[in-house]
Amino acid sequence: MFWPKLVCFALVALAYGQLYQVAGEETIVVCPTNFTQVADKCLLVDTKWRNFYESDRYCRSLNAGLLSIKNSIELNAINEWLPIIAPYQPEFWTAGNKLGETRSDYYWQSTGEQALYLPWQAGQPTPASGDCLTLLANVTMTTEEVFLSVHRLAVKNCTQWAPLICQVPLQYFKTQLCLNTSAFFEAKIPA
Ligand SMILES: *[C@@H]1O[C@H](CO)[C@@H](O)[C@H](O)[C@H]1NC(C)=O
Ligand SMILES: *[C@@H]1O[C@H](CO)[C@@H](O)[C@H](O)[C@H]1NC(C)=O
Ligand SMILES: *[C@@H]1O[C@H](CO)[C@@H](O)[C@H](O)[C@H]1NC(C)=O
Ligand SMILES: *[C@@H]1O[C@H](CO)[C@@H](O)[C@H](O)[C@H]1NC(C)=O
Repeated sequence: MFWPKLVCFALVALAYGQLYQVAGEETIVVCPTNFTQVADKCLLVDTKWRNFYESDRYCRSLNAGLLSIKNSIELNAINEWLPIIAPYQPEFWTAGNKLGETRSDYYWQSTGEQALYLPWQAGQPTPASGDCLTLLANVTMTTEEVFLSVHRLAVKNCTQWAPLICQVPLQYFKTQLCLNTSAFFEAKIPA
């Protein structure tokens, strides 16, 4: 994690103690440890296999939630990132589900929002196979190599297992690096 540093200078007023002058400050955007910025969110992949409910609990234990997807910009960024962070992983739990729904609407459990952008994988949705949504890639195997298509949404039985993707919002901070009489010190304050 790299913290961009900004310098502000504290001037020492001779007789009356310290007077601090902020030379500048900058809002910086960071993700929690082990999360990566992807589009305008922080994401984390965990490749241990869990069912949907365990995956939801796991993300909550990190003060996060399961992945929700709001548009194609986000989906494209995820699809560029996944082969780097988790190559050859075809499936990940998202927050999407229609548990308890009498209609066939899907909701993102982590945000409470209805899932309006639903980029289905080819052959999907298959509502009879379950109530929860994964990001799924088609796997094509030849004798020499395994090829994964882009990840898109697919329906899966919530009690079955898959790796997961957790999300948290980007965190905004203002940083100031200040100089006082004895030392540089860093100040990090919520924006
Ligand atoms: C980050 O990941 C490493 C390796 O999995 C783990 O040991 C560490 O506890 C994680 N840090 C946080 C803050 O979750
Ligand atoms: C993905 O798999 C489905 C079902 O096997 C198939 O119908 C579809 O054409 C495949 N899509 C891609 C992009 O390979
Ligand atoms: C999900 O799997 C469980 C256990 O295999 C099964 O009992 C249940 O009927 C399945 N649910 C759906 C919606 O297919
Ligand atoms: C100056 O910085 C040092 C090192 O962080 C700190 O211990 C000290 O309290 C600071 N002095 C003042 C007057 O803020």
